[in-house]
Amino acid sequence: MSAVGEGLWVGLDVGTQGTKGVVLDASSGTIVARASRGYGLMEGLSPGAAEQHPDTWIDAVRRVCSELMPQVDRSRVLGVGISGQQHGFVPLDDDGAVIRPAKLWCDTETSAEAEELSRLYERPVPTGFTASKILWLKRHEPENWSRLRTILLPHDYVNFRLTDTFTMEAGDASGMGFFDPRSRMFDLHEVSAIDPRVCDMLPELVAAGEPAGRLSPEGAELLGLPEGTLVSAGGGDNMMSAIGSGATRPGVVVVSLGTSGTVFCHASEPVVDPDGLIAPFCDSTGGWLPLLCVMNLTGVTEEVRNGFFPDAADAHARLTAAADAVAPGCDGLLWIPYLQGERVPDLPSATGTLLGMRPGSLTAGHLFRAALEGASLNLAWGVARMRDLGIPVDGVRLVGGAARNPLWRSVLAACLDAPVTVLEESESGALGGAVQALWTARREGGEDVAIDDLASPLVATEGDPVSPDPELVGVYRDLLARFREEVTRLF
Ligand code: XUL
Repeated sequence: MSAVGEGLWVGLDVGTQGTKGVVLDASSGTIVARASRGYGLMEGLSPGAAEQHPDTWIDAVRRVCSELMPQVDRSRVLGVGISGQQHGFVPLDDDGAVIRPAKLWCDTETSAEAEELSRLYERPVPTGFTASKILWLKRHEPENWSRLRTILLPHDYVNFRLTDTFTMEAGDASGMGFFDPRSRMFDLHEVSAIDPRVCDMLPELVAAGEPAGRLSPEGAELLGLPEGTLVSAGGGDNMMSAIGSGATRPGVVVVSLGTSGTVFCHASEPVVDPDGLIAPFCDSTGGWLPLLCVMNLTGVTEEVRNGFFPDAADAHARLTAAADAVAPGCDGLLWIPYLQGERVPDLPSATGTLLGMRPGSLTAGHLFRAALEGASLNLAWGVARMRDLGIPVDGVRLVGGAARNPLWRSVLAACLDAPVTVLEESESGALGGAVQALWTARREGGEDVAIDDLASPLVATEGDPVSPDPELVGVYRDLLARFREEVTRLF
């Protein structure tokens, strides 16, 4: 990494499984502190529901910062940028208090409302997007609905707790389901179709490169930083990960292997998929971010880990070694990985299915390999759609926890038939938050600096790209054909 400015910059990524924080030293271009705090989904909810209370995120932000700050000279911290899981619906009352837990991107309880909105808008509205969650509240919880005054997304809520102002920005807002990516504005006709009152519940949009605000006394206390410190606009985790992985110029395609699997790239104009499978998002730097999101990725392999080695520190190494010993194609075992329904293909009510079981199939190695192959094949199916839309996927950068696993790398390289490169910093969302804060401060200082001039020098690759093995490419091409046939037959 190399120098891109001065000062220290904090990036926080408020995700589904935890919050991760980094401190970037702009003068050396290195991460000088990091911390994280894990959490889970609320338990005991009805099937399909996936919720978290926003207090969980605030508590994690506090704990992460209380670990980060003693590692650095906090008087050198000049700004903070927040990345947050996309699409979650944070409902606030007149006093800015949370009315009920947030329904998250992976909640499929609102599929009937998503279908209804798809009919009304005459275009597909994925269940995961925020719009159907708002209509669901109106239909199912009239008392909560009557108290609703402000609608925020997860990162906007954290920004609110830091700055005491309600804001949104185009990147995360474009995942709400009623946003026009061409004009980078809400489509108020579509918003009103849910209820005319909703138009007044959406905060002002902050332009790319503008701050969300400054740390309020409460925000300063929460982070352990001085009041008045700059808070950039932030963005959805994929938008911020795009900054932290160098997808700030055309041609860089990123695959993020997290709870969800995403594939995205920077575009200098909107890319709209008429079938709604590739999301037409804006990015959080003034450009666009066509994005594929599958809901089932590391959650599927984690099921196997939880089943076999719930408490072993070396569980991943043991499972990977066992899966490596099983032949590609898993002796016929095929795992359709839709444990919590799926967004692409659009099957919110589908369930996971194991096919081709024979004596000996129920070993840890077979199941781990089948989970990893099923999730990769499903991702490859979505990438084929991106290629159909004219997005070249000739090589990809891998980020996210699973990027460290060599088996994921080789299976993905073969499934996507493209070389994969691993990035040194796998916490690209948190790094993106820090870089966006730096960019915002330099623009405020009167410099017309491009985000790519700051992001690209900070993004280092690790080792050589993994090239697809031609034999494996053939195995997985045939398996993808079987996978698609089975999904079409089953759901
Ligand atoms: C993207 C999506 C997920 C979440 C995960 O559309 O729903 O990647 O952002 O946090």
